[in-house]
Amino acid sequence: MKAVILAGGSGTRLWPLSRNNFPKQFLKLKNMDKSIFQLSFERCLKLAGLAEIYIVTNKNYKFLVLGQIEELGYRFTESHILVEPQGKNTLPAIYYAVKEIQKQGDDITAVFPSDHLIEDEEKFIRTVKEGEQLAGEYIITYGIRPNKPHTGYGYIKPATPLGPGYQVAEFKEKPDHETALVYLEKGYLWNSGMFMFRTDIFTGEVRRHSPEVYEAFKSSDINEIYEKTPSISIDYGIMEKSGRVAVIPLNIKWSDLGSFDTFYDEFARDENGNITFNGEILIDSSNNLLYTSKDKTVALIGASDLIVVDQKDALLICKKDQSQKVKEVVDRLKAGN
Ligand code: GDD
Ligand code: MG
Repeated sequence: MKAVILAGGSGTRLWPLSRNNFPKQFLKLKNMDKSIFQLSFERCLKLAGLAEIYIVTNKNYKFLVLGQIEELGYRFTESHILVEPQGKNTLPAIYYAVKEIQKQGDDITAVFPSDHLIEDEEKFIRTVKEGEQLAGEYIITYGIRPNKPHTGYGYIKPATPLGPGYQVAEFKEKPDHETALVYLEKGYLWNSGMFMFRTDIFTGEVRRHSPEVYEAFKSSDINEIYEKTPSISIDYGIMEKSGRVAVIPLNIKWSDLGSFDTFYDEFARDENGNITFNGEILIDSSNNLLYTSKDKTVALIGASDLIVVDQKDALLICKKDQSQKVKEVVDRLKAGN
C-alpha cells in the first residue's frame, strides 16, 4: 500500500499562529513535542513503508518537510516530496501523487491531510486498513460521527452496508448551517478528509467527473499541468459526483485543527472554561482561549468568550464563534490592507 500526505495548505484560519512561511501543520503546539505533520508522518509509517510514502507540498515547505522528517530520525527519499508549482487545491495534489505512484504500477493508496489530531492510533490504523477490502471497487472515505452542524466539513449519507462500511448515497461538501442541521438529524457522517482507493479506480473517476483535471495531467511538464488544471478539491471534483464512493465509520477522537474554535474544543479547560498555555493571568474571565508569547505577561479582566493569540509581531483578538473570519485578516494582509 502507498500513502500520500497532503502538506501544501497554508492554514490561514489559524493566523497569526500559522504563517504563510510556517503553516500550522509544521507547528509544535505548546503542549506537544511533535508537529501535526510529524504525527501524521509517523501514523503513515504504521500503514506503509518509508519508501511507499509520498508528500505533496510546495517549494516553500519542501525543506520544512525534509527537516521535520530528519528530526524524527528518518532519511526520506527526496524524490518522494512532490513540489507543486502552485497550489490548486486537493484534487490536483492527489492526482500528482497518483501519477507518480502509477509509474511503478497501480496500487492501493491512502491519502491523509496533515492538519489533523487523532487519538487512539491503534484503532485508527485498524480501521484505515479495513479500506483495503473495498479499494478495488470504491473510493473510500472515513466517516466521523458529527456532534454539531459544522459548516466546514463534507457530509456523507451512508446507504446499504458494504463489507466494513457502507455505500454512499450522497456526499455534500461544506453545506450551509440549515442543511448541516438537517444532515445531523438524518445521521450523516462527517468526511474526515482521508481517502483510500486503487489508483486506476481514482484516475477513472477523475476522467469521468473532472475531465479538465484529467486532460491537464496528460502533459509531462509539471508547470504546464499546473497552469492548465483548474483549482478544485477532491470533495467537489470527485466525491460529490462519483457513484463509487464507500464510507467506513471511524469511531475515534478526531479533530481538524481548522480554526481557533476547534482549537478551543480540543484542549483542556480550567473550571472557568479558560484555556491558557503560558501562565496568563485571568480575573473574572471565562471561556477564553489564550495563546501568547513567552516574553510577555498577559492578563485578562472581566472578559469572556475571547480568543487572544499574541505572537512577537502580531496580535489577534477575536470573539469566539467568529474565528472562521480570521482568514479575512490574511486576505487583507495579502492585498496590502
Ligand atoms: N499539496 C497541497 N496542495 N495540499 C493542500 C492544498 C494544495 O493546494 N490545499 C490543501 N491542502 C492540504 C491541507 O494542508 C490539508 O492537509 C488538506 O490538504 C485538506 O485541505 P483543507 O484546506 O484543510 O480542507 P478542509 O479542511 O477545508 O476540507 C477537507 O477536510 C475536511 C476534514 O478536515 C474536506 O475533505 C472536507 O470534506 C473534510 O470534512
Ligand atoms: Mg482542513
